[in-house]
Amino acid sequence: MGSASGEDLAGRTVVYGITGGIAAYKAPSVVRGLKALGIDVHVVMTESAGHFVTPLTLQTLTGNAVYRELFPEMPPDAHEVEHIALADRADLILIAPATANFMAKMAGGIADDLLSCVVLATQAPVLLCPSMNVNMYNHPATTQNIDTLKKRGIHILEPASGELACGWEGAGRLPEPDRIVAEAKKLIYQKDLSGISIVVTCGPTCQDIDPVRFITNRSTGKMGAAIVEAACLRGAQVKVISGPVDIDYSPWAQVVMVRSAEQMLESVKENLKGADILIMAAAVADYTPANYRASKIKKGDKLSSIELKPTPDILSTIKPMKGDAFFVGFAAETENLTGSARSKLSSKGLDMIVANRVGEEGSGFGSDTNSGVILTPEGVLDNFEQLEKEVLAHKILDFIRERV
Ligand code: CTP
Repeated sequence: MGSASGEDLAGRTVVYGITGGIAAYKAPSVVRGLKALGIDVHVVMTESAGHFVTPLTLQTLTGNAVYRELFPEMPPDAHEVEHIALADRADLILIAPATANFMAKMAGGIADDLLSCVVLATQAPVLLCPSMNVNMYNHPATTQNIDTLKKRGIHILEPASGELACGWEGAGRLPEPDRIVAEAKKLIYQKDLSGISIVVTCGPTCQDIDPVRFITNRSTGKMGAAIVEAACLRGAQVKVISGPVDIDYSPWAQVVMVRSAEQMLESVKENLKGADILIMAAAVADYTPANYRASKIKKGDKLSSIELKPTPDILSTIKPMKGDAFFVGFAAETENLTGSARSKLSSKGLDMIVANRVGEEGSGFGSDTNSGVILTPEGVLDNFEQLEKEVLAHKILDFIRERV
């Protein structure tokens, strides 16, 4: 299986089945997305798929022969049974688009062409991306077939809704290639965090002064989002509690949006029950206006200062609820990284802390990379320099995994 560090899908194999729907025109983009991850892609097309996309395009993009026939002309020395070889070679069978007809055949166990034989013979996970006219999709026969396939453990990526190529509006659009590739990637990933429930806080908090102004910080939620994505890929159940950010969290996470430090505290308390791990990646405000003004402060009010009061420290407040859960904090520091992180680790009762340098190029808020140090009560675990947040996220999860 692939590496738990999450970087390496090279050498994994996807058998990519294309069936005959108009959305097959998106297949080359799906192939490119899979290839960009280093995945070896072998395309199997049904006869009707050839009306919508050419084998030559797919052969060129995959660098592999495209399979179309159940009984091809065989060289005299050939000894592999093609549909069995393909079925065995796959780490995943992906079918996009999957037509109503193809799913009906699968539900009925019919194997009358190469692709239907491959799906019947494989022991690899199968991901179907249905795409068709809305009335075909909503037809009881299709609904029933999809139910049957789901019960058999076939993974279904629901179609998107919108304007369809046939002119109708509704459900039936093939999801965008990036979404299909992400779903395929998740199914291939090693599930070393399966059965583990993680709460991740992300982003800044906003402390309102009046209906127009607020106090916040430079956090964008990128580091937290990278942890959320990595944990989801590795099979964890992930709940995100996020301050206001302009970021799309992983489609597999459950997301709760909050605004202030006080709301984040309440949400953490509510969602902590049953969690195995808490990762506090949020940059929580330490101070909030002492008095919120319900009406806008006007220029003429001649305001010279805003009185502030401390916010609750979330980690310190929930310390008594910790039990056996594993708590990870973050520390944003401009100096004395290790010393400050060590004292936060102990005062907040943490099992691990990730201290990152802020206020310099290539690290901290808004950057794609981070520099800093990871500490546990036993000492320094790791120093990292301008590491991609995605890679750092997997590294942090690797360290946690060794300890829970
Ligand atoms: N944190 C928290 N509640 C707060 C402030 C911070 O739970 N009100 C958490 C953060 O999510 C982070 C850790 O505490 O995991 C350290 O946050 P940081 O801002 O680095 O430190 P502070 O405790 O706020 O101390 P200081 O700002 O003085 O460095």
